Amino acid sequence: MPKRPHDATPPPDSGLPEHARAPLPDEPTPLLGNRTPRQFMRRYWQRKPLLIRQAIPGITAPLARDELFELADLDDVESRLITHFRNTWNLEHGPFAPDELPSAKKREWTLLVQGVNLHDDRAHALMSRFRFIPDARLDDLMISYATDGGGVGPHFDSYDVFLLQVHGKRRWRIGAQRDLSLKPGLPLKVLQHFEPEEEWVLEPGDMLYLPPHIAHDGIAEGECMTASIGFRAPSEHELTAQFLYHLAERAGEAPDGARANARYRDPGQAPVANPAALPAILVERVGAILADVDWSEKDVAAFLGSYLSEPKANVVFDPPERALNEQRFLERAKKTGVRLDRKTILLYDGRSYFVNGEAALLSSKLKKWLPELADTRRLEAKRFVTLTDDSTMTALLHEWYRAGWIRMGALA
Ligand code: SIN
Ligand code: CO
Repeated sequence: MPKRPHDATPPPDSGLPEHARAPLPDEPTPLLGNRTPRQFMRRYWQRKPLLIRQAIPGITAPLARDELFELADLDDVESRLITHFRNTWNLEHGPFAPDELPSAKKREWTLLVQGVNLHDDRAHALMSRFRFIPDARLDDLMISYATDGGGVGPHFDSYDVFLLQVHGKRRWRIGAQRDLSLKPGLPLKVLQHFEPEEEWVLEPGDMLYLPPHIAHDGIAEGECMTASIGFRAPSEHELTAQFLYHLAERAGEAPDGARANARYRDPGQAPVANPAALPAILVERVGAILADVDWSEKDVAAFLGSYLSEPKANVVFDPPERALNEQRFLERAKKTGVRLDRKTILLYDGRSYFVNGEAALLSSKLKKWLPELADTRRLEAKRFVTLTDDSTMTALLHEWYRAGWIRMGALA
């Protein structure tokens, strides 16, 4: 039977406004110095630094200085103030009332605001340009504001980062040094011996990509703002610990609950003269219980979907104050379409979908639209109308709307 056109998932960028569109894998793009994402990922990603002049020509800061300061005043926004007054590094964590920040006339301080993409559409759109890299790896968009001479000191990060100059100028020096020892006793990570090998002054629109562990130091030349598009790479220790936790939870929910609730037994335990000694038989039997724990790739995928779609601890959704009932929601959405809220993380694989930490089965009905919504983060009005005879779709989206996970209107 021929496939109906909407059975096929369209490319992730279809119809998105230019300022929010990620290049297709084989599309040369100024964002990557006229390379294609495929070339960039093969030659540079996780491998070597790349300076891109005019990655986004004509860019302006997604937020004005005062708007950034307002964000830094909010409880659910992570912000840091780093000063280097009288040659001494100091670090404070936000929130910061505007009068708690130094004067913009004072030299050598910087304010870093994390997760700006969660709070501002322009920042969210800017980060969307980097969706040629999977959402599962994208972390957040941070914006730093610095006065002349401001920066965070020479350091290295454990994550890949795109450092995009959005306002004013910043001098970057980088080096691939082996010695990553840090100055002791400081409140922030500053390299003990920074050995820069290359140096550039970045102007608005210029961008520097750095893989993990490249030493770098960015110093503001006059007032400036830099957007950092950062990635998440959980440590193997974190992944193992979280996966084991997931397995334990799964065992608790298993239909054969009897197994999960079974307790350690030791008929035949002999009396002991050394009560504090750990019985060898206990170790042996618990070893046998643990050896029985089994898991497959399905469990790994289910774990990763839930874990990676879990919102960060400080994320608070904003449900509509007076939510429309399902009928009125439907009528409105048919006219305006819907989009995922900036804070929503929606991932999927062939079997399941994962939304904000919750997993559910991806039924064949859901397959018709959910991957499309996840990839494009919206369903336009026209598209929404074609789907409304499916009551599971309308009920699910109405539930997400009431939770503040989706919004009316398809515009990013
Ligand atoms: C900054 O924007 O000042 C710091 C970004 C970084 O070096 O990681
Ligand atoms: Co850094």
